[in-house]
Amino acid sequence: MKIIHFSDPHAGGGAEDLLAYFDKRWVGVFNYRFRRRFQHDLSLLRKAVDYILKTRPDVAVCTGDLTSTGQPGEFEQSLEIMKPLRGSGIPLLYVPGNHDCYVRLRKCREAMENSVRVLCDYEFNDLPLVKTIGEIDFIIVNESRPTNLLSSRGLMTKSTSDFVVNYCASPKERPRIIIGHYPLIEEHPLLRYRHSLGGQRKVVALLHEQQIDVSLCGHIHQPFAKIDASGRGEYSSGSVTRNGTIAEIEFIKEKNIFKHHQISLV
Ligand SMILES: [Fe+2]
Ligand SMILES: [Fe+2]
Repeated sequence: MKIIHFSDPHAGGGAEDLLAYFDKRWVGVFNYRFRRRFQHDLSLLRKAVDYILKTRPDVAVCTGDLTSTGQPGEFEQSLEIMKPLRGSGIPLLYVPGNHDCYVRLRKCREAMENSVRVLCDYEFNDLPLVKTIGEIDFIIVNESRPTNLLSSRGLMTKSTSDFVVNYCASPKERPRIIIGHYPLIEEHPLLRYRHSLGGQRKVVALLHEQQIDVSLCGHIHQPFAKIDASGRGEYSSGSVTRNGTIAEIEFIKEKNIFKHHQISLV
């Protein structure tokens, strides 16, 4: 069973309305103009989509941050590139990142919800949910929501954490992979406070106990692997448009192991 994981394409652009100068978007637009647009190459997202269509994994996973400030035009750029996946017969599991939930503005929220609808066969409001695909149970959670000007923090709400804990209390029939935007394992919670996740303590314990086998996440733009010899643990493919990296994760049932391969598109 093969999974392709990619993350954080961060399409961007200018302010799409005047209000953008008065809410958090001005920070994101400024950041995009002077930093992100030199770091992220959206043509690499197209390469990732082509690679997925050619390789035909059993499932593709995108762990968020399709956009830079969550504006409809930014979602449209990413969707335009990713739409061929929807008609390909390859299931896509997408969760929004903090940049996709940047502000409370209704049109931004609707654009995010529409992106889930267009790309996946579930709705944003269905999260958290479990989907069984092939030999794996995927636990799909949202941890992103609008925050104040200086924060990029995520929150695993109590109801989401309870959902995961309750699900994992049932007899384990298949390996479990959790899909979220933020890394669950945080080694520097104080140093990285502004970018970290809260509320995930019980779910991290499940990952350490291997009640959950693998966590796939984004948010950190450099790829990383915190996995043991059987491939269990936490893995991020990094930002596809910043590093040109995606990941292939293979579950080898006979050996009960996961193999992670980092693929470079550049
Ligand atoms: Fe990101
Ligand atoms: Fe993020």
